[in-house]
Amino acid sequence: LVALLSAVVAAAEVIYMEKEKLELEAYIQEKLPQINDRYKLDYHLTPRVGWMSDPNGFSFFNGLFHMFYQFYPYASRWGPMHWGHAVSSDLVHWNQLPTALIPEDEMCFSGSAIQYKNLLVLMYSGRRRTPEVAPFKNESQYLAYSTDGVDFAKYENNPVLSYTPNNAADFRDPKVWKHGDYYYVVIGSTKDSDTGRVLLYRSEDLRQWEFLRVLAESKGDLGFLWACPDFFELNGKYVLLISPQGIQPQGDRFKNAYQTGYVIGDFNYETFEFVPETKFQELDFGHDFYVAQTMEENGKRYVVGWFSMWEQKYPEAEDGWAGALTLVRELRLVGDRLVQKPVLDMVQLRNGVVASGWYMPQSTLNFGRTGEIIIFEPDLTQVVEILFEGTDGGEKASIQWNPDTRKVIVDRGNDIRQVEWNPLQSLSWRIFLDASSVELFCGEGELVFSTRVYKLGNWRVTNLSPQILTIDAYRLSKSIEQ
Ligand code: FRU
Repeated sequence: LVALLSAVVAAAEVIYMEKEKLELEAYIQEKLPQINDRYKLDYHLTPRVGWMSDPNGFSFFNGLFHMFYQFYPYASRWGPMHWGHAVSSDLVHWNQLPTALIPEDEMCFSGSAIQYKNLLVLMYSGRRRTPEVAPFKNESQYLAYSTDGVDFAKYENNPVLSYTPNNAADFRDPKVWKHGDYYYVVIGSTKDSDTGRVLLYRSEDLRQWEFLRVLAESKGDLGFLWACPDFFELNGKYVLLISPQGIQPQGDRFKNAYQTGYVIGDFNYETFEFVPETKFQELDFGHDFYVAQTMEENGKRYVVGWFSMWEQKYPEAEDGWAGALTLVRELRLVGDRLVQKPVLDMVQLRNGVVASGWYMPQSTLNFGRTGEIIIFEPDLTQVVEILFEGTDGGEKASIQWNPDTRKVIVDRGNDIRQVEWNPLQSLSWRIFLDASSVELFCGEGELVFSTRVYKLGNWRVTNLSPQILTIDAYRLSKSIEQ
């Protein structure tokens, strides 16, 4: 009888969740027409309505790329986290799907996805809301699974992993991968609640986990919490990607509220020891880039980040939404640098030429909501300066090359990010403009800046350089189905 009753309760819960998902979908569809799209990005993922933050569960399953994200549908600010969901066949065109995870007592914090047999399994941090429920652990790891990659059921015996060696309260953002016969996961945590660290575990079935060791830890200079860790092999080396909170600004560096960056080193699967060989360096130097996640498919490693940051003004919030993801970029390791290039299929979005050839000083190009500009091999003994503004005002930004300091500068309203550029090979720049964003890729992608720019009207781009530039410029089409 007890078994029967619990089966009935479980079935009732499934029906209840299904109903909640349908109601949420109806709510989103009803809200969609009310969204003001002046800043809404045309070819970057944004929430259909409400709030988006970290990319989650970036994976490939049954022939499609899956992207999930931290999502709160009911206001354009952070709230009890859901997982939004979108799929793509080329990492450029995306279709939004129904919300994958809805919080119950556990808010569905960040995590990752992996194929297990015929299932797409999501592993996420549940952050509990009611301490009264024993045994209370603020943050632990949960599973959800799907056979079709659309409907997800939460695992009946959640949580699957609560143990940390020091009982740390912060224990979140699992990134899972498979190596040989085992699944491994790295999870962000803290030592003495003020030092960021990453914990490593392994499992044979994703349900029972064994603690292996502390994979890496701050020596006091890299913040109090390491959010959203990722760990992967690239060119025979191992890369630990982390998003520390609490690094102090140092001159030009670490000027954003929070950073995402990486350390390269060696690792072996016998001792589970990670030996760092480089210092922490930022992955992206723009104003708005935080918490990135990678995935591998067809021998390629892809990365995507949250195209925003905590504690910003979020001008789009008054339009009924907030937050975006960056373009998906292919990652390579060259020497001790990660280089990132937009995926090749981005060229599919080109939809009409705005200009091709010489771009004279003081001349202006007129785009619509979006655009792409390639500047071929500018003369680096001279200044380069391009101004990006809206035909109806709003925010402006410029990108510059200073031949004296050898720095690339992105200046948004006198708020400057600048970094020395040592080109690998190509001297060209590639710039992507979307309705409220500018992404600059220098050379092979060894220097990347992602910055949100809230201009009004269409893009107007002026060559303020003293030199004639050689360019190709395109309009781009929309690639997100809401
Ligand atoms: C990073 C983060 C994660 C957490 C999520 C909650 O931006 O703080 O550590 O899982 O956001 O939304």
